[in-house]
Amino acid sequence: MPTDSTRRILVTSALPYANGPIHLGHLVEYIQTDIWCRFQRIRGHECHYVCADDAHGTPIMLRAQSEGITPEQLIERIGRQHRADFADFLVAFDNYHTTHSPENQHYSELIYQRLKDHGHIARRIIKQAFDPIQQIFLPDRFIKGQCPRCGADDQYGDSCEVCGSTYSTTELINPLSAISGVPPIERESEHLFFRLGQFETLLKGWTGAGHLQPEVRNKLQEWFDVGLQDWDISRDPPYFGFRIPDEQDKYFYVWLDAPIGYMASFQHLCDRTRLRFDEFWGPGSDTELYHFIGKDILYFHALFWPAVLEGAGFRKPSAVYAHGFLTVNGQKMSKSRGTFITARTYLDHLDPEYLRYYFAAKLNNRVEDLDINMYDFVQRVNADLVGKVVNIASRCAGFIHKRFDGVLSPRVPEPPLYQTFVDAGSAIAECYEQREYSRGMREIMALADTANQFIADHKPWEIAKREGQSDLLWDVCSLGLNLFRVLSTYLAPVLPATAAKVEAFLNCELTTPGAWQRIERPLTDHRIQPFKHLMRRMDTAQVEAMIESSKQPATESAANTPSIEPMAETIGIDEFAKVDLRIARVAGAEQVAGADKLLKLTLDLGGETRTVFAGIKSAYAPDALIGRYTVMVANLAPRKMRFGVSEGMVLAAGPGGRDLWLLSADDGVQPGMRVK
Ligand code: MSP
Ligand code: ZN
Repeated sequence: MPTDSTRRILVTSALPYANGPIHLGHLVEYIQTDIWCRFQRIRGHECHYVCADDAHGTPIMLRAQSEGITPEQLIERIGRQHRADFADFLVAFDNYHTTHSPENQHYSELIYQRLKDHGHIARRIIKQAFDPIQQIFLPDRFIKGQCPRCGADDQYGDSCEVCGSTYSTTELINPLSAISGVPPIERESEHLFFRLGQFETLLKGWTGAGHLQPEVRNKLQEWFDVGLQDWDISRDPPYFGFRIPDEQDKYFYVWLDAPIGYMASFQHLCDRTRLRFDEFWGPGSDTELYHFIGKDILYFHALFWPAVLEGAGFRKPSAVYAHGFLTVNGQKMSKSRGTFITARTYLDHLDPEYLRYYFAAKLNNRVEDLDINMYDFVQRVNADLVGKVVNIASRCAGFIHKRFDGVLSPRVPEPPLYQTFVDAGSAIAECYEQREYSRGMREIMALADTANQFIADHKPWEIAKREGQSDLLWDVCSLGLNLFRVLSTYLAPVLPATAAKVEAFLNCELTTPGAWQRIERPLTDHRIQPFKHLMRRMDTAQVEAMIESSKQPATESAANTPSIEPMAETIGIDEFAKVDLRIARVAGAEQVAGADKLLKLTLDLGGETRTVFAGIKSAYAPDALIGRYTVMVANLAPRKMRFGVSEGMVLAAGPGGRDLWLLSADDGVQPGMRVK
């Protein structure tokens, strides 16, 4: 790939479904893609990153129904949460749209019309499972029954989680609708099909021409061997989606308009900027287009999508990059083990850059699953980022301020050492470009070791004590900080927030276009700012608290249903109204020496702070509480306790022990707000 001339690149991540929260598994993909885009920009290339919520389909319709709201209300709410989660994980889209948009409707209809005009659409009547109570055709996932291969109960209509076999819904033994629990009946309906088989030659050529990872090509060969089937692109009502033009009551299947959502999001961006849609999507375009996806949605992106684009006269992707799935502590994410961790729960406890770094340290360009082991996570982040990288700056910065007025020396003492760091940049860049992040992180950490070794060899703290060696001290510390600047630039795609702090500290740009190339010139005679802490050590207790708050009971068995205490004496509304309940933010939380249940909390009530002793030590590590919200009785008379005066009481629901619940920093809750 050329690095000297500016490339023009459009990048997408798969569009998350608008029916549930973003979790750590999703984040593998968004973090992987975001790192790649940031890298391209730091190298000086033009790179646009777009995404959207995938808002259509039966599950979203049913979920809205069960909440008693419209699908529009549901996707609006989830869309807002998704955006906040991504922003807080520093995933910086240039545009985040929704597939339920006018732009997407426009392109879906246009593409469909073109496919139809060119004879790529067929129609025929098929038999499908139908729920006679709900009056709805049932997607495979909404039919459950016994596996036809191994006999396991309660399996989905398309595949068995016990023996792993796939089959068609009609083979399922004793099938039942997952919505109403009755056996589905068969009903006929006319459907529209995309004639994928017409694109076999094109697809065989395209998939063999370097647009896919090698292991993906092999998978595709298996699909070619089985034969390319027509693809059913229509659905009957009730359905949440776009109506198909010129048809009686038919809707586009969600997977038809979902990838078109990439175009729609980009169009929405073009409408607000000077970008031109055709330069990125027109046939024969000379810009680059990449789709980052998970391995589960390859069929849609490596077969249907290029064929649809070809059939409708648009350009095809430069490449589709698939990644594997995330496991936690070696196992599938699980709600009962507390390893189904949502983005928001993570953020309530930990810094997003820890995860960004850990994923980078684990990701390669193959379709391999990757594991987050919680202890390795803590270990790795502390050892590499805090122990190796930040350490370089903290050992050098103080002397520059105390002894040299905050200005770096006019010389670089060991030019070959600095040059080694600069030279390593091309191999590291190649790692980013090839999505070999784990190799890239290893190279960067090897440089950090070299920098620490340089400092350990010269011992600035000892030079500082010797007379007449002021220049040497100046040079050693200045070089240390220059090496730190190079490392921070190399890490900037992964750690954008830290990079911004380093920019302020070193008074130089690390993340602006072309910053990567500017490290060739070291900072000499250059004023820097006082060193402020850059990254906190990670604490195992924070991780444990995160897992604890992710735990949900698997089933409501008698054993884990908490027993209910007898009701207290009835009180009147007047008595209740005397209780002033307020939202309080936990501003501080500390252990109380000698107390086994109590934590000492500092609560922020908007205008004032209170000290409260609360018996919630068993449920929360102090760090995990900071920043969270709770409800407190604000007008309770201060009580003198063994450990001090308690100025109120916090309310926490739940059975006690490790399961006490507080509010999370959700919309609308503010310190001092009265709860009525
Ligand atoms: N809506 C479709 C994508 C449409 S793209 C035109 C979809 N949504 S999803 O929410 O289920 O997944 C979004 C992305 O996250 C997919 O690429 C998926 O592979 C990825 N992941 C979801 N769970 C994951 C893990 N546990 N691990 C890694 N990636 C995961 O699919
Ligand atoms: Zn089975």
